[in-house]
Amino acid sequence: FSLRDYNTFGLEAIAQYFVEVQSAEELTKILLDPEWRNTGKFILGGGSNVLFTRDIQALVIHPNIKGIFTVKEDDSFVWLKVGGGEVWHELVIYCVDHHYGGVENLSLIPGTVGAAPMQNIGAYGVEIKDVLESVEAVRISNGEKRIFSKEECHFGYRESIFKNEIKDQYVITGATFILNKNPVLNVAYGDVQKTLLEMNVSKPSIRDVSEAIVKIRKSKLPDPALIGNAGSFFKNPEILVGQYNMLKQTFPEMPGYPAPNDKIKVPAGWLIEQAGWKGYRDGAIGVHEKQALVLVNYGGATGYEIKKLSEKVQNSIEAKFGIRLGLEVNFI
Ligand code: EPU
Repeated sequence: FSLRDYNTFGLEAIAQYFVEVQSAEELTKILLDPEWRNTGKFILGGGSNVLFTRDIQALVIHPNIKGIFTVKEDDSFVWLKVGGGEVWHELVIYCVDHHYGGVENLSLIPGTVGAAPMQNIGAYGVEIKDVLESVEAVRISNGEKRIFSKEECHFGYRESIFKNEIKDQYVITGATFILNKNPVLNVAYGDVQKTLLEMNVSKPSIRDVSEAIVKIRKSKLPDPALIGNAGSFFKNPEILVGQYNMLKQTFPEMPGYPAPNDKIKVPAGWLIEQAGWKGYRDGAIGVHEKQALVLVNYGGATGYEIKKLSEKVQNSIEAKFGIRLGLEVNFI
């Protein structure tokens, strides 16, 4: 079974077996099925953050659990329980249409609701942890359901317990969000303010913010339906203030934003551009011409080629700046 249409990089990889499940119950049934007991299992969600470098000798389970339900509301907030298979951006549109504030800054992020908590998706000053109440998951080893409170998810910058302490142990089947009926806008990012001005809106609504962010993303980020990619390939590195100040002497233009624990977050896109990679292309692989943080498959690339390119980029950044870029994408 080809997984090419199941990863946004558009990479060819063959699954030995493949099954799609529509509910947590169906998932549990497959996990407990004696017929599959001795077969390895691999969970593949929206495929928006994976890089396949090999075929998958296992039963690939693709959870596709749908549904957006209001489970509770009061005068100020609404609690939405959402199936992990819902497309993230469709949830954002649903919230904008219902005038529920909180996720508008996360417009147009590729992938599914189930994949979103995995790496605590974030953009334009908002992270999913800001609106999340809990995550529902099923344990792969025994099919048991478990609810993780927000605190139990151990969220950090593009990090969660699901990528770390309990990596590969649970399938996220859904999440509950708390959204604000009296939206509080977050338009602090310069790009967002500039775009709203260009749109001629002085008192923006959440729909305006969503539209502005869709505009910005479309202008910088390649559409995975047209050019294979997984968004940011690398994380923005956080370095010690001392190292940042030293680097500033050689590279006075280097941008940096304060991060926790006396660190400075440096945009990886800037480092990659300075090292001359922006717009680089070699056959089917490349570094996106408008956002150097994104590696792309122009069609027909292998995961191995992209992996090699990412290592070359990492090595050249390390040689020039003494900074080792960490990965945002999961290598398989
Ligand atoms: N920059 C360059 N060259 C580039 C790209 C960026 O010099 O090729 C500089 C820009 O000039 C700017 C700075 O880097 O000063 C920041 O750029 P941008 O606003 O595009 O954001 P980013 O830090 O590159 C992060 C997230 C994105 C998210 C944006 C907006 C990470 C790894 N990436 O990118 O998330 O959309 O902020 O908040 O944190 C994703 O995770 O897939 C993703 C796209």
